[in-house]
Amino acid sequence: MRPEPNRKQRRQVTEAILLVGGKGTRLRPLTVNTPKPMVPAAGVPFLTHQLARARAAGVDHIVLATSYLAEVFEPYFGDGSALGLSIEYVTETDPLGTGGAIRNAASHLRSGPDDPVLVFNGDILTGLDIRALLATHESSGADVSLHLTRVEDPRAFGLVPTDATGRVTAFLEKPQTPEEIVTDQINAGAYVFRRSVIDTIPTGRPVSVERETFPELLSGGAHLQGMVDSTYWLDLGTPQAFVRGSADLVLGRAPSPAVPGRCGDRLVLETAEVAADAKLTGGTVVGPGAVVGAGARISGSTVLADAVIAPGAVITDSLIGAGARIGARTVLTGAVIGDGADVGPDNELRDGIRVWCGATLPQGAVRFSSDQ
Ligand code: GTP
Repeated sequence: MRPEPNRKQRRQVTEAILLVGGKGTRLRPLTVNTPKPMVPAAGVPFLTHQLARARAAGVDHIVLATSYLAEVFEPYFGDGSALGLSIEYVTETDPLGTGGAIRNAASHLRSGPDDPVLVFNGDILTGLDIRALLATHESSGADVSLHLTRVEDPRAFGLVPTDATGRVTAFLEKPQTPEEIVTDQINAGAYVFRRSVIDTIPTGRPVSVERETFPELLSGGAHLQGMVDSTYWLDLGTPQAFVRGSADLVLGRAPSPAVPGRCGDRLVLETAEVAADAKLTGGTVVGPGAVVGAGARISGSTVLADAVIAPGAVITDSLIGAGARIGARTVLTGAVIGDGADVGPDNELRDGIRVWCGATLPQGAVRFSSDQ
């Protein structure tokens, strides 16, 4: 039996590790030049929203576990004081996976062995009540507490069933048959670890916290507690999800103290130029220095800095990279246009198409419908 927590151990937790070192392959080409957590959502690097939400929940010391394009984080966030945080940076030369990254970052923690340490995936947009997760951890006395979310179609996820008290009973691989769908609960990518548990993760090799650490802890008899809620939750790993998440931030459906402006149908950053008769709707964001021409219609989309949208373009649920150009009358639906790409006039691009950074498409080169 573990000893009763003493007063110091019950103090308000203030530390978190944020995992931001992944390659973000599903989000390419947006992650060719920019790591996923630094891709702007609702006008600021996505990570800003997570940092601001952690701060609002009382976290004041954050260790960023970086690897891919590690060098871009510190010049932007510095020591964290602009956000009221103390931020430290740890870099893995070779990626260590989610578990290895947590272990590697632990050398910068200030917590004692029984203190709770928050860990967040760097690509989740959620309204999670962080204080409630901490309270669950404390009241259950768990070794690790996990935020769990319910999804409509659990087939694409590993499942995390719990018993009547919320204790995790298994970590199941993606279900293959209807019988294997024993719950609709999945790992939502936010955890509280007892500090000493982090110290048991092996060093010096890649470790997956989801596939290795959690199942091994469970089979070794550890107490893993789930906290299920129905708050906003979205994994921004794919372009479709990223653009949805950014729009939801702009619309105010996803909560963040870091949206730079009032929530509403659109967010136009300072120094962007939008023609008076252009129509921006559905949580569209237009980044700094971007230009939107006359009669353009943009819905539910993200236009990054210095991009140029020519007159009459119609853009829906799409992501336009920094400095990209979209020609007159071009129609984009569910498209991702890489940084600096040049899509000529009268193209029609749809359904998950990805145009690579710097690529050029001549006028009328791609259509999905027949010519009028
Ligand atoms: P995909 O390549 O598109 O799957 O994205 P990803 O590389 O970000 O992987 P995934 O979405 O599974 O990662 C979940 C979280 O863990 C993200 O916030 C990643 O940044 C982070 N992450 C994944 N692998 C590593 C790693 O090796 N080191 C560190 N520090 N973070 C990682």
